Amino acid sequence: MAITRSGIDYDELIQEDRVHGRLYCDPDIFQEEMEKIWHRGWVYVGHESEIKEPGDYVLRNIGLQSVIMCRDQDGRVHLLMNRCRHRANTVCQAEKGNSMFFRCAYHGWSYSNKGDLVGVTYEDGYDEGFRKEEYGLINVPRVGIHRGFIFGSLSPTGEDFYDYLGDAKNYIDRVCDLAPDGEVLLTAGRQKIHYRGNWKYQLENLVDGYHVPFVHMMSRVYESRARVDRQVPQEYGSTGDYGHGHTTLGILAQRRNDYSAVAGGRVDQRGPTGAAGTTDPRVMKGIAKRVGSMEEAERIVNAGPPHMMVFPNLMLIWEAIRVLQPVSANETQIHFYPVMLKGAPEDINIMRLRSHEFGQGPGGRTGPDDWEMFERNQLGMEQRVNEWLLLRRGFNDDKVLEDDFGVPVRTGRVRGSELPQRAIWQHYKSVMSAL
Ligand code: FES
Ligand SMILES: [Fe+2]
Repeated sequence: MAITRSGIDYDELIQEDRVHGRLYCDPDIFQEEMEKIWHRGWVYVGHESEIKEPGDYVLRNIGLQSVIMCRDQDGRVHLLMNRCRHRANTVCQAEKGNSMFFRCAYHGWSYSNKGDLVGVTYEDGYDEGFRKEEYGLINVPRVGIHRGFIFGSLSPTGEDFYDYLGDAKNYIDRVCDLAPDGEVLLTAGRQKIHYRGNWKYQLENLVDGYHVPFVHMMSRVYESRARVDRQVPQEYGSTGDYGHGHTTLGILAQRRNDYSAVAGGRVDQRGPTGAAGTTDPRVMKGIAKRVGSMEEAERIVNAGPPHMMVFPNLMLIWEAIRVLQPVSANETQIHFYPVMLKGAPEDINIMRLRSHEFGQGPGGRTGPDDWEMFERNQLGMEQRVNEWLLLRRGFNDDKVLEDDFGVPVRTGRVRGSELPQRAIWQHYKSVMSAL
């Protein structure tokens, strides 16, 4: 039995093929999630392109903790806790900006964007036992950066960054490799939505192939997609479990394209439209120049963008990334960032932005339908009649295959297999059961 300090038995609440509704409603469980998943483990914070210039900063969260992500004059990235060392006021309120200093509004202490305390108001009021160098802003203890994707961990010890990232690394690479310069830019701004429901609905939904033909029917062109949907063969490879809670829809390019087709992308011989703009000859040429041959460029573009949930909060989906931000047991924010391709012509990136808006914008063809589902899910969850949720689709129907990268991965056969949800919950249980 894995009864934790809080007295919650996660073995009881999370079984092989079902989970208990309490996991989505209980404020005590939410607090324990913050401590064990969000404040101990690795969490995606932001992207280097958002703080391109020295002095650039954005305000972010790791779990419920406010963090300043900034670039200093030497070009180094810092994650600084947004908490004054005097009496704990926040030192930054703006969502983003450019500044060499953060000045606390309460009593005027100032910090450099490296975190050093550089100014103390009425300093002569302090005795010689006070040393400014001991009162810098606290750095997030561990920072990991892969191809511009910045992660932080509030725990000074624990799993190594690349061990945590595991095979999800290949999928971040896949996002970047679609750009002629091999880098993406999250500079088109972000869109935020707030829903009244638990954060784990989005966690599970990103890799839920089952809901797509039903929830996303509002799309006018659904009928043509439904025809594609019926043609999708049921074969192993439709879902993937990479451990660590990292999960995918599709582990092979063909399977991903099928899902893209079901969910609204158009498949043609050059890949899904989720890779918006990458089939443009100018983009292909740019990729070919970087990777050395047109053949390799075609392989990259045909593979298309990933559809992956990087536990616990980074979602790689077509021409966008989404970031999960829990607020409370029954409130969540999601942040959307259209992914711009560095080195691509401007009209291509504008087209990608429009494509993102069409999919995920306030009137988009997929995003808003999901938020509605999450709110209804929470309402249903709070009715205490039958408290179990069934995750049995494709149960005992998975096997290990090699993915496009040659990595062995557990994959489901049935379209819309709930293998990813079961995998997420087993990982969740192992993290939450730790003392
Ligand atoms: S709390 Fe920041 S200067 Fe006093
Ligand atoms: Fe959806």
